[in-house]
Amino acid sequence: MRALVTGATGFVGSHLVEHLLDRGHAVAVVRRPGGDPRLLRPLLHRVVAIDGDLGGIAASRDAIDAFRPDTTFHLAWSGVAGPGRDDASQVEGNVSGTLELLRVAATAGCGTFVGLGSQAEFGPRTGAIGEDAPADPTTWYGIAKACTHLMARRLADDLGVRFAWIRLFSAYGPGDHGGALIPTLIRSLLDGGRPSLTAGEQRWDFLYITDAAEALRLVAESPDGAGPFNLGSGRVHRIADVAAAVRDLIDPSLPLGLGERPYGPRPIMHLQADVGRLREAAGWEPRTSLDEGLRRTIQWHRRAA
Ligand SMILES: NC(=O)c1ccc[n+]([C@@H]2O[C@H](COP(=O)([O-])OP(=O)(O)OC[C@H]3O[C@@H](n4cnc5c(N)ncnc54)[C@H](OP(=O)(O)O)[C@@H]3O)[C@@H](O)[C@H]2O)c1
Repeated sequence: MRALVTGATGFVGSHLVEHLLDRGHAVAVVRRPGGDPRLLRPLLHRVVAIDGDLGGIAASRDAIDAFRPDTTFHLAWSGVAGPGRDDASQVEGNVSGTLELLRVAATAGCGTFVGLGSQAEFGPRTGAIGEDAPADPTTWYGIAKACTHLMARRLADDLGVRFAWIRLFSAYGPGDHGGALIPTLIRSLLDGGRPSLTAGEQRWDFLYITDAAEALRLVAESPDGAGPFNLGSGRVHRIADVAAAVRDLIDPSLPLGLGERPYGPRPIMHLQADVGRLREAAGWEPRTSLDEGLRRTIQWHRRAA
């Protein structure tokens, strides 16, 4: 595969790049000049680096043409984490930038486009969520992702590009965003703090990041890898149990402040991917148990400290 990866400096993208390189694929990454290459730095000497911004990706056309990608993994997205996640600015550069990237990639001869969507496209639900569940997003992030999916799917069809849209549920692992639940817990406990948590009755689906990277590759490689795919572990864990597991791996004597904080205004009490389509179409199975994934993540945080 000759893979063009956007968002390669991010949490998911850096793991995807490593996974593709380790399997012998040629990789070019689109990098924002001035972006933070920390997670990608150990891999930079093994990739073709193309300067580019989703807000003006046509300016990178010559370099993308020269690389001749056959597959594009589009992970770049402005405002994945942090306060801008529920802001209307989600729509501006992200949606039009994705469509422009698709045009540029198609012109360069790329026949497969794998875009990253999110569970946020569905809005709050109970039970395992399949691909056919109606999109009812409540955040600007989810709305922008759902719109991008529909527009890019239509454009890919017009351009004759095979198009897959992978709605990732909660991934975790080394390099995860500082504000996400698992890294926040780990950092707090490693620093000897007492994390202040809700009662933790929410049941969420946590997928270890290398399993996510493998799913993206398998979809791209599979002849049936087109259309929407929901990507999670397919299992749920109570947040209180996840917190206790993290604590026990660090130091079982540490206190956990469960129940010290109220739930937010619209808590997501159940979040679970139905991964049946991914299993059937791409032959994918998650390999990493929660315990093993947490162990590796904690190890990474200890080294990074
Ligand atoms: N993490 C999850 O659990 C999760 C769940 C569902 C969906 N997703 C999706 O997976 C993808 C990757 O997420 P992530 O967690 O890895 O996010 P992340 O760590 O915030 O990475 C975002 C990436 O996008 C790049 N980017 C942002 N704006 C850009 C622009 N205007 N032009 C070019 N590149 C730009 C960033 O580059 P800089 O380094 O220059 O900022 C970074 O490489 C996103 O599409 C996200 O919506 C993630």
